[in-house]
Formats: sequence, C-alpha cells, structure tokens
Amino acid sequence: MQQVKNSNFPGWWLCLSGLTIAVFSIYIPYFLNSGIRIDTEKADPDLSFQRKAESLQTGKAIFQTNCAICHGQLGEGGIGPNLTDKFWLHGNRPKDLLKIIQEGIPERGMAGWENILPPQNIKKVRDFVLTIKGSNPPNAKASQGREYED
Ligand code: HEC
Repeated sequence: MQQVKNSNFPGWWLCLSGLTIAVFSIYIPYFLNSGIRIDTEKADPDLSFQRKAESLQTGKAIFQTNCAICHGQLGEGGIGPNLTDKFWLHGNRPKDLLKIIQEGIPERGMAGWENILPPQNIKKVRDFVLTIKGSNPPNAKASQGREYED
C-alpha cells in the first residue's frame, strides 16, 4: 500500500513530462493539420486546379447575378468602376478587394456583401474579379483611380 501511494518520480521529472505532454498536445494537431493541407495540394495538383476552376465558375455566376448590374456583365463598368483595367480606387491587392466586397463603400453607392453572401462565395467572386484583369471588354468605362503596375 505504502509503495503505491508514494511515487518514486522526482518532482522535476513530473513537471517536465507534464510540460512535454502539454506542448505536444498543441503541436501534434497543428502538425497534422498543416501536413494534410500540404499533402492534398502536392499529391494531386490537377485536383486543386479543378477545384479552382470550379470555384471560378461559381465566382463568375455570383458576379453576373449580383455585381454585373453595376459593374457590367464582363466587368467593363457602368454605375460602378471598370474592374478589368489596371486602375483601382481602393487598391489592387486580393485583400483590398476582399475588404471592399465585404464592407462595400456605402457612401459611394456600393453596399457590403458580408451579410448577404457566405464568406466562401465572397472569396470566389473576388478571385473571379482578379481573373478578368486585362481582359479588355468592349464598351469599357473610362479608368478611375490610380494605376497599379503588376
Ligand atoms: C449598386 C451598384 C453596385 C453593385 C451591385 C456592386 N458594386 Fe462594386 N462598386 C460600385 C461603386 C459605385 C463602386 C465605386 C466606389 C467608389 O467610387 O469609391 C464600386 C467599387 C467596387 C470595387 C473597387 C473598385 C476599385 O476601383 O477599387 C470592387 C472590387 C467592387 N466594387 C466589386 C464588386 C463586386 C464583386 C460586387 C458583387 C458582389 C459589386 N461590386 C457589386 C457599385 C456596385
């Protein structure tokens, strides 16, 4: 009885093993997660390309349904600016576009979409907008904003 009760492990050892378990229980799921993500991308690039193409198709449909009324069917512009040229009023980085689409610019006539479209659809329509850059559609609206090289 006595022996079972009194552990022979020194306090520092218990401390260290507790710490190790704590660190690994955080690290292992993190490691597995990142591993899985990298693996699927690497294992089948066609698959991720397909997925991308599919989501661009969805992005296009979302654009035509919700955005074309102001930005034109091909993004050539109308009430809203031309989205196919190198000129941007609010920046050309993917995260700039995401913010504009989420929050809009209500005082300038564009409502935000974050309460209307699910987040993944906002990303899809943003990705679609990024692909029409340089497409040079007919009847393009005159450029607005600042020119961005890239
Ligand atoms: C009711 C009209 C309207 C609708 C619908 C609309 N927009 Fe806009 N959008 C505008 C206007 C107007 C601006 C310019 C705001 C300004 O002058 O600052 C704008 C600006 C933008 C910009 C920034 C352009 C730049 O030059 O920086 C992006 C990107 C954009 N819209 C994407 C979208 C997307 C994607 C949708 C659909 C989910 C959408 N818009 C729907 C009117 C609209």
